[in-house]
Amino acid sequence: MKTVIEIDNLCKDYMVGFWRPKPQRALNNLSLQVNEGEIFGFLGGNGAGKTTTLKILMTLMFPTSGSAKILGKSIDDLEMRKQIGYLPEAPYFYDYLTAKEFLDYCGKIFGLSNDARNRRINELLKLVDLDFAADRQLRKFSKGMLQRIGIAQALVNDPKIVFMDEPMSGLDPIGRREVREIIRSLREQGKTIFFSTHILSDVEVLCDRVAILRKGDLAGYGKLSELEGSRDATMEISVQGISNENLPHFCAKAQKVVQTASGLQIQIPDQSHIDEILLLVRKYDGKIISINPVKTALEDFFVKEKTSSLTKQALV
Ligand SMILES: Nc1ncnc2c1ncn2[C@@H]1O[C@H](COP(=O)(O)OP(=O)(O)OP(=O)(O)O)[C@@H](O)[C@H]1O
Ligand SMILES: [Mg+2]
Repeated sequence: MKTVIEIDNLCKDYMVGFWRPKPQRALNNLSLQVNEGEIFGFLGGNGAGKTTTLKILMTLMFPTSGSAKILGKSIDDLEMRKQIGYLPEAPYFYDYLTAKEFLDYCGKIFGLSNDARNRRINELLKLVDLDFAADRQLRKFSKGMLQRIGIAQALVNDPKIVFMDEPMSGLDPIGRREVREIIRSLREQGKTIFFSTHILSDVEVLCDRVAILRKGDLAGYGKLSELEGSRDATMEISVQGISNENLPHFCAKAQKVVQTASGLQIQIPDQSHIDEILLLVRKYDGKIISINPVKTALEDFFVKEKTSSLTKQALV
């Protein structure tokens, strides 16, 4: 497998404070590799260091120490830069240009010919579902439309690797799904996608591998299924048909019992307690609706103080 992004011990200190600026660490010895053709999720809460990392990779700022390579080349290699695309976190748009004019401008930056630009603009407007607004000025675009034109400009040079800083931000559920489809279709074309997000469900449905940043530190790195293995083993059993007088029997065996309009949600610490609950459900004439593992919210993953065993494995 070919490594196309290689980040090696990257650190970034920002100088904070007006009178006596002091360095504040935003990124701490980040090392990771991304393979060709994968969708790589870069997860982290607000302020974790995602945008900082992406800006360093895009040479929009210098690292304090460490280095990175893209497509085997130093990050400031101009030939390499022609083969990558970037969607910034807060893209700045030329408000008075139409969608078409804006993409045309982006195409010119990459030196595309007139014909190539026209072809590419039409393809991209279709891809991001904005062909209906091709001649509309960007100042008249909604937030979601701006996000999609931002994605289109990141693809104008038909890049081998696409870097996206929160590509789903500002999109409604349908827009999110469409962006997921775009990201999948890019992978089908053999491209590598590196995108940041703070939303676990986005990476769950998309990513081959992920890195999780917590306050500048790498808190997890690997396949999502392996990361999930390191989560809590709590299970949730949904049950119907249990009368109120029998509730205490369940409360005695469960970690938590919640009564909802559709029945009971019973939480147990792990799988070994399932049989006990099933016996009770049968005994008191209930009906099992579902048994599911409770997924630890991403926020919980961020705030865990100790690095998971997976992280340690992945880092050695
Ligand atoms: N220009 C700057 N000067 C000083 N500190 C900064 C600067 N930019 C970012 N930081 C700090 O660096 C840390 C990482 O910020 P960064 O923007 O990389 O986080 P992020 O993961 O992208 O967060 P978000 O999800 O909110 O976009 C934060 O603590 C932030 O306050
Ligand atoms: Mg950010």
